[in-house]
Amino acid sequence: IKKIGVLTSGGDSPGMNAAIRSVVRSCAYHNIECAGIYRGFEGLIEGDFKLMDARSVKGIINKGGTILKTARSKDFRTKEGRQKAFDNLNQAGIEGLVVVGGDGSFTGAMVLNKEFGFPVMGIPGTIDNDIVGTTHTLGFDTALNTVVDAIDKIRDTASSHNRLFFIEVMGRDVGHIALNAGIAGGAEEILIPEEDLGLDRLVESLKRSRKSGKSSSIVIVAEGDKIGKNIFELKDYVDENMEGYDVRVSVLGHMQRGGAPSCFDRVLASRMGVKAVESILEGKSNYMVGLQNGKMELTHLENAIKGKTKINLELLRVSDIMST
Ligand code: F6P
Repeated sequence: IKKIGVLTSGGDSPGMNAAIRSVVRSCAYHNIECAGIYRGFEGLIEGDFKLMDARSVKGIINKGGTILKTARSKDFRTKEGRQKAFDNLNQAGIEGLVVVGGDGSFTGAMVLNKEFGFPVMGIPGTIDNDIVGTTHTLGFDTALNTVVDAIDKIRDTASSHNRLFFIEVMGRDVGHIALNAGIAGGAEEILIPEEDLGLDRLVESLKRSRKSGKSSSIVIVAEGDKIGKNIFELKDYVDENMEGYDVRVSVLGHMQRGGAPSCFDRVLASRMGVKAVESILEGKSNYMVGLQNGKMELTHLENAIKGKTKINLELLRVSDIMST
């Protein structure tokens, strides 16, 4: 192999730049070329490539977002789009592709591999941590720190005003951000997609903590939580069913995806980039690199996106005990 391509795709996450840097420098170390592909699979179809040498990725390890940009490509879902992408890869002499992204991006990589036998390697980049085969996806740790910082700030104003706050965090299908940041931020209750706590139990629990002497409270709500009401309807319900609490809502939104990556994410990205490039050079394909028991391990892309990552039940129990 003489040239590897790298792209970032799907929702961005802090650490993607550190991963690009690692892929580019690993290629340079092994004396092969590296092509950066812009806007994910969109840029693959349009042939929007740029050769990157070791110096071209200076000063980006500490930057959020992705210098290669990212997109969710509709055209790549068509056979013609994928054929174009494959032709462009061939024309540019690219012989292996590193895809940094989440489940949608990995599905794209798998199709490219299945249809054309093209060597692909995945690096899990999403704040949601919803990929099997790695305890941490790139950006998860940074997002947690961002969310905890926001909760701390909201707590200041919540306790000054004796208010109850509902704080919505990201997590369309999984509650990893909600559960971890909720515990770290000292939340009373944490609502996640994996569990239906029930509205009545929520109100009972808030009443109990009120009685026990708490004058303000924080409830963390994952955007895909199972109670089936959006965060504003939740607020209204609690408003109607609880006396005397001034209730407010704060939706953290996309700020959770930005910011400088944490030390953990920078190290993880650096390790994953090296492992991804060296795995392709060893002739491996159709895998994702991940962190398992402190080591870099490979998981078949198919298994990485299959099913749901399981919520840590111990954390649920810890959260229950902490809100006593
Ligand atoms: O990156 C994953 C995620 O943050 C989800 O938790 C969220 O639902 C989604 O992305 C929103 O992304 P977008 O606004 O880019 O569609």
